[in-house]
Amino acid sequence: MNPRPSSWIAPTLIGRHHGNKGGHAVFTRRPIAAGELLAVFGGDVVPASELSQVGEDLCRLSLQIDEDLYVVSSVEGPGDWFNHSCEPNAGLRGQLSLVALRPIGAGEEVCYDYAMSDGSRYDEFSCGCGAAACRGRVTGDDWRLSDLWARYEGHFSPYLQHRIDRLVASRGREHQEQHEAAVGGARTRSLQPGADANPMRVGT
Ligand SMILES: C[S@@+](CC[C@H](N)C(=O)[O-])C[C@H]1O[C@@H](n2cnc3c(N)ncnc32)[C@H](O)[C@@H]1O
Ligand SMILES: [Zn+2]
Repeated sequence: MNPRPSSWIAPTLIGRHHGNKGGHAVFTRRPIAAGELLAVFGGDVVPASELSQVGEDLCRLSLQIDEDLYVVSSVEGPGDWFNHSCEPNAGLRGQLSLVALRPIGAGEEVCYDYAMSDGSRYDEFSCGCGAAACRGRVTGDDWRLSDLWARYEGHFSPYLQHRIDRLVASRGREHQEQHEAAVGGARTRSLQPGADANPMRVGT
């Protein structure tokens, strides 16, 4: 008996060869409803310092799950073949689960945006997703694209959501500080000796 693949995929999906995007892809066997669970990823949990030792092929099949941690498939299977799309029909729920973002028709390829999971440079490549709004390149910095934050709300890996929350808070603080500096500066100028609080007043 073949060993069980590291990741589970729903029986409604099938992994197949695909002409491009690295050789394989996952498709639906029948229509899927929004919110349905599609996959749960599994494997060995490996720190960043050891990821380079697993080799390029396995590295491509890895999933970043925290600041310094990756799940590396120990038995490859269709759960390792979900491709990236800049217009995805699936998204993460937590660190390890994939769910449908919208209803998906029978025979459609199931893809998620790797910006939802990747926060480092371990799997960067030219994108061939074919979406009208394709970003052209998939990078470990894509989670920073602020237009994705609302679009994928609730579907970023928790460690990335934490990064996004901190970035938003620090931008808010910066904005507040700039505002206070501008208001404070105007107040200081109006209190300077010789500065007239009422420039219209003459001859008094
Ligand atoms: C997790 S694997 C996905 C399965 C992969 N297609 C395979 O057959 O092994 C991630 C790799 O697939 C390829 N890939 C995924 N999405 C792609 C896309 N939109 N355009 C081009 N290559 C893609 C890249 O080589 C990437 O490193
Ligand atoms: Zn794309």
